[in-house]
Amino acid sequence: MGIQKLLSSLSSKNKRLLCIAGIHFIAIEGILLSFSFIGIQPQNANVIIDTHFGKLIENIDSLEKSVVENRPIAQKQFYYTLSRKNYKYLETVIEYVSPFFAKYYINGPPIRKHDIESGNKVIEPHGFQLLETFFFTDNSSLSKEEMIYEIRILRETIVQTRKKYKSVIPRTEQYFDMIQMELVRIISLNINGYDCAITKENIQETTFIFDGLLGVLEGIEEVRAKGRSLPKIKNLITDSKKYLSLNKEYDTFNRLYFITNYVKPLYSFVQKLRDELQLSSTPVNYAINFNENNLFDETFFNRYFFSINISDSTNILAQAELGKNLFFDPILSGNNKRACASCHKPEFAFSDTINKNFEYNRSGFVKRNTPALLNVMYQKSFFYDGRSLQLEDQVSDVLHAKNEMNSIPAEIVDKLRQSDEYKILFKKAFKGKADTAITFYAVLKSISEFEKTLVSLNSKFDKYIKGDKKALNQNEINGYNIFAGKALCGSCHFLPLFNGLVPPIYNDNEFEVIGTLKDPNSNELDPDSGRILITKKNIHAFSFKTPSIRNVESTFPYMHNGAYRTLEQVIEFYNKGGSSVIKQKIEHQTLPFDSLQLSVKEKQDIKYFLLSLSDNAHKNIAPKKLPKIKDPILNERKIGGEY
Ligand code: HEC
Ligand code: HEC
Repeated sequence: MGIQKLLSSLSSKNKRLLCIAGIHFIAIEGILLSFSFIGIQPQNANVIIDTHFGKLIENIDSLEKSVVENRPIAQKQFYYTLSRKNYKYLETVIEYVSPFFAKYYINGPPIRKHDIESGNKVIEPHGFQLLETFFFTDNSSLSKEEMIYEIRILRETIVQTRKKYKSVIPRTEQYFDMIQMELVRIISLNINGYDCAITKENIQETTFIFDGLLGVLEGIEEVRAKGRSLPKIKNLITDSKKYLSLNKEYDTFNRLYFITNYVKPLYSFVQKLRDELQLSSTPVNYAINFNENNLFDETFFNRYFFSINISDSTNILAQAELGKNLFFDPILSGNNKRACASCHKPEFAFSDTINKNFEYNRSGFVKRNTPALLNVMYQKSFFYDGRSLQLEDQVSDVLHAKNEMNSIPAEIVDKLRQSDEYKILFKKAFKGKADTAITFYAVLKSISEFEKTLVSLNSKFDKYIKGDKKALNQNEINGYNIFAGKALCGSCHFLPLFNGLVPPIYNDNEFEVIGTLKDPNSNELDPDSGRILITKKNIHAFSFKTPSIRNVESTFPYMHNGAYRTLEQVIEFYNKGGSSVIKQKIEHQTLPFDSLQLSVKEKQDIKYFLLSLSDNAHKNIAPKKLPKIKDPILNERKIGGEY
């Protein structure tokens, strides 16, 4: 991940940050804690966990000492590795107790990050992954003082986290939440190259996480007393560790085998144990459902998590049905010739097949390629640059846009009110509002409810994960393993949605700078500057939301500019290291510049895997006819629009 760049970006101003950051940490994590630890029960701290915190702090002290005393590099590496071991043991707890520290100060990627929640600030890289670049690459440009400074930040955040852990000891059900989160983290991040970018110790380190999981469980009195599934879980953990120690190589690790044979059963048994203890669910509303027995079943994700208008839920099905009609009805556009489905066509996963679609007056083309809408509801922000935070706002944006549908709310409502059929549909969907049921709000809400029905989680890949071992062939399985391993795709397109919604709680979208070119054969960057237009932050120049790659079989052409017509072109782009072909490097590319060195067979297998993510869901969903309108001219309008 652009290590040289990172190191040079570390400046002396970092040194002033610690005390400021200290206050900042406490404020942020304080808020998080007060939300997540509601109704604390008196309980003892888990002694096993607390002991490991002590060990970790000792390890970090030894690391600092080895730097202060200019010890040989091997000794520094030794203490780094030892610290990692105890950190991984504690990862389950640390990530839960201090998510903000974990993300930015303990184990975040070694790149600058932008955090809206903490006051729209750019945060410099800190923590283990940054230290890894000091101790495992030949970069001497960093002073000893700077290294010591970074080690101290790490120590401080661990000390603070330990204090927090002891002051608000989690309740038993919260321990279960954190264990389930950690299992998701293992398969979607840890073994997919989220950390250990240089040492590649991901597989080995996962064994320490398993030790930690067991430590957490065995430290809970209730579990020891009443947990009938505990022995089974212990056995599964032993077996998982055995498998990991026999298959340590990152590049060849069979991720799908490991997930389906070890982690998935373990997840189910943890859930079973939770039931045995008759634990209530935690009061926190998550984007995923922790009471779901099976990892990644359709009900694992909460489709309504990202909506604000969920309280208006009396007739969601009727709203979605109405929304479907509206989605295909060109009456929503100024000239009655353009519908949402003009660009978002169900037979292409709700995208289209041209680079960029026509503008409203057909004089030119809109700015970007039409994205697919299957699984669109599983996102925190919408559009390539994330400028919209609600599906309803997004719909409004498109309806108003002069170059897209060029419409005015009052006119839409007037036209719809001329239809008796629409009147009935609106009344059914929005109860008790008689004739006034037809409102602009109702239009937006129904279309967004329709969009929330566009679930697509039943591809061959899903069938395999759910237990049908024959659903994927060897090429596809190999393709996934390269995708998630050597080719690093899975570190941005996260399992199982394969978009940028970040595991393990899937409540935030990532934006990335990959350096999409003007076209695959050029050595010019595409001029669209992406998210910087919204945030005005330099690190967001050429940054785009990571899209889902489910159904890519039908979503060609690819990328925000639609310049890549085939999957081969996309894979080759990544193989070369994004914009690395351009003379002048983009400053904040988050994709490594290095070539992935993929063989012809590896590239092919990635493609086979990508094709296994299709399920043709909702392909034939278009209504057979549109509601009648009194005006005969309007009645000639075409389902899905004319262009
Ligand atoms: C002219 C073609 C066109 C029409 C008509 C159109 N869209 Fe889009 N849609 C796009 C393009 C292009 C984008 C991406 C724009 C961007 O990111 O700046 C988009 C983005 C979206 C997104 C965000 C997807 C994501 O993952 O971020 C949604 C949702 C969406 N459209 C729904 C609709 C709905 C609902 C309608 C009808 C009210 C509609 N669109 C009409 C072309 C169109
Ligand atoms: C650093 C994060 C990152 C990594 C690593 C990454 N991607 Fe992407 N991917 C993105 C972003 C961001 C986009 C959207 C870029 C744009 O629109 O210009 C994207 C777009 C795509 C698309 C186009 C989807 C569409 O419908 O337009 C495909 C296909 C894809 N990636 C596949 C892959 C594969 C295969 C790999 C590994 C070889 C990979 N990605 C690695 C972030 C990443």
